[in-house]
Amino acid sequence: SKDLLGLEHLEPDEINLILDMAKDMKKIVQSNMKRVNYLQGRSVITLFYENSTRTRVSFELAAKYMGAHAVNVSVSTSSVAKGETLIDTGKTLDVMGSDIVVIRHSQPGAPHLLAKHINASVINAGDGMHEHPTQALLDMFTMQEAKGGLEGLTVAIIGDIMHSRVARSNIIGLGKMGAKVRVFAPATLLPIGIENMGCQICSSLEEAISDADVIMGLRIQKERLKKALIPSTEEYARFFGLDVHHLAAAKKDVLVMHPGPVNRGVEMTSLLIDSDQSKINEQVTNGVAVRMALLYLLAGREEH
Ligand code: CP
Repeated sequence: SKDLLGLEHLEPDEINLILDMAKDMKKIVQSNMKRVNYLQGRSVITLFYENSTRTRVSFELAAKYMGAHAVNVSVSTSSVAKGETLIDTGKTLDVMGSDIVVIRHSQPGAPHLLAKHINASVINAGDGMHEHPTQALLDMFTMQEAKGGLEGLTVAIIGDIMHSRVARSNIIGLGKMGAKVRVFAPATLLPIGIENMGCQICSSLEEAISDADVIMGLRIQKERLKKALIPSTEEYARFFGLDVHHLAAAKKDVLVMHPGPVNRGVEMTSLLIDSDQSKINEQVTNGVAVRMALLYLLAGREEH
């Protein structure tokens, strides 16, 4: 397909292809040179209408490591601020010769709309509360690398599930790959229809974590919350926050993950974030490898 808009429409074989290719790309990320010519002559534009550190920088580095021209559009200082529509901005980037546009937007479906109107490939780097497919791919890569496979794993996702596009993409992706997903969330932060998403809804942290292979914490997304629904930071930390003592109920070799950015002491204690079982830094490194694989699959040169 021309675009990567979500995991909803990917087949397990396609997910495996991306994860396999990311293994080779990780060797490049960890090499001294960090330079191959798989994307020489290609242009990759990052167009982020919402804040980002990890996703934006890793796409830019992934493009540069493969020899592409990488350009970031600073939305707040672009002509978006003068009222230009998403489609017009996309078409403008298109006619400048962009091969791939990586977009993050607060509106669910914005990448899909853009993809319909431009020739360049579009990658969804997070659309509102909908999907964050490249995050889920790097999460699955991290789990597969540490555990040897995804089938049969039990993954507990804890916290603000409703506003989390990361949770949604992981529930979809992990389900397709044969893993079991459990969720535990404040009652007001479970999305409508969660019972039809193929995951187990737990009524306590202990139930979610028991014998888990992976525990994933989530940031409370205050920017998307209606004030009345927000548990206080103290409540969230007390009832949904994770600490090292919680690991006792999980499998001995449990992985602790978080998509970042983390609010230390809220969804996870510093002790847990910096523990040996934490894969949070590895997730970030793997994000570059997975995004290299995606850029290559969408626009890589045949001959290099
Ligand atoms: N996980 C994630 O998407 O992080 P950023 O918001 O920093 O890109």
